[in-house]
Amino acid sequence: MAKRNSFIIGLDIGTTKVCAVVGEILPDGRVDIVGIGNRPSKGLRKGVIINIDNTVRAIQDACKEAQHMSGVNIDTVVASIAGDHIRGFNSRGVIAVSRKNREITRKDMYRAIDAARAVAIPADHEVLHVLPQEYLIDNHDGIKDPVGMKGVRMEVDAHIVTSASSSKDNIMKCIKKAGFDVSGITLEQLASSEAALSQDEKELGVALLDIGGGTTDVAIYVEGHIWHSYVLPLGGNNITNDIAVGLKTPYAEAEKIKKRYGYAMMDMVTEEDMIKVPARGNRKNRYVSRKILAEIIEPRVEEIFKLVKENIENAGYADLISSGVVLTGGTSLMEGITEFGEEIFGIPFRRGEPMEIGGLVDVVNNPSYSTGVGLILYSIRNGHNYLEHNHSEESFMKKFLRFLSDRF
Ligand SMILES: Nc1ncnc2c1ncn2[C@@H]1O[C@H](COP(=O)(O)OP(=O)(O)OP(=O)(O)O)[C@@H](O)[C@H]1O
Ligand SMILES: [Mg+2]
Repeated sequence: MAKRNSFIIGLDIGTTKVCAVVGEILPDGRVDIVGIGNRPSKGLRKGVIINIDNTVRAIQDACKEAQHMSGVNIDTVVASIAGDHIRGFNSRGVIAVSRKNREITRKDMYRAIDAARAVAIPADHEVLHVLPQEYLIDNHDGIKDPVGMKGVRMEVDAHIVTSASSSKDNIMKCIKKAGFDVSGITLEQLASSEAALSQDEKELGVALLDIGGGTTDVAIYVEGHIWHSYVLPLGGNNITNDIAVGLKTPYAEAEKIKKRYGYAMMDMVTEEDMIKVPARGNRKNRYVSRKILAEIIEPRVEEIFKLVKENIENAGYADLISSGVVLTGGTSLMEGITEFGEEIFGIPFRRGEPMEIGGLVDVVNNPSYSTGVGLILYSIRNGHNYLEHNHSEESFMKKFLRFLSDRF
């Protein structure tokens, strides 16, 4: 009998869409995307759930669609989390290695990680991720895997991500109410980075900007690890809103106009290019120059880029992102946005879509799917499991992967 492959379902609960992606883990560890379901999201504001029923319905519909397409029965998902309640900071954990032979074990590693996570956070927040960056043994730094090494004192530097407990609980509640279990909750930009960044970029230093509908999520990687994360509560919906107000057109029309004719930089379009703008109510449609549209879009994109740039500079990472910026999320599809980013930041920009996957590549080859696909990749590569709080114990998936890599 043929061996059954296992499946992981990424559920991206975004501000504009809820998207379920089914990934099949092949025997050699690669991932094929075998199903996808997409529903407009009407229950979120700026990355945070504000309407349970609408979100539950969107989750059910998106999962049903993904189930039909893949033929896989969905019972458990890994989900994304975003919103400006998210905080990211770095912390150091220190432990003494008291064993006689001074050899560091995996248990010591988890003890050090637990020490790093023991930081004071607001009572209504909780730790979502503890992401080790490097280990130090008796003051020697740059150690990636300390297990088996000898020393008296071990330290770990880690990036800690916290979230408002209520926001995370609402995600859990909606998924459970929709009829599914949750095996992990992952910070949105951590998932997107997994899909859209190459290992080389992460080693050299790179900033990922996931500009979605409600939020712009930032992650900075240096020497292969995340050192900074930030969520700006601005995104493509703000641009659409500006167009609706500026051109006096309904929001839905503004959205269509933005996607079809929008340009991030006004210098890149000519006055002569005219577009039809449907009016509100029973007024007459108008024609306006595409340059006027770009004049509305540019200041908002500029605001987003400048706020992110300021945040990266204040955090001290501006000189460490030698590979530049990778833009992903639906808004990265806007024409002229990478060029505008390069002008503001003065470093190379590229658009990032999900990489290193097989299967329905043509369907998910879109920056809107970076989070959904990335949730699957993150789950496989990190064995992330919400219920285990990530590190206190080795997860089943991690044990399974270790077993595979030991044997083959
Ligand atoms: N071609 C395009 N040009 C400009 N904007 C676009 C284009 N295609 C999609 N968008 C915008 O991308 C946004 C949706 O992106 P995405 O699917 O990444 O968001 P989301 O994940 O639902 O939201 P968030 O991550 O902020 O919670 C919308 O604002 C949409 O208008
Ligand atoms: Mg998103």
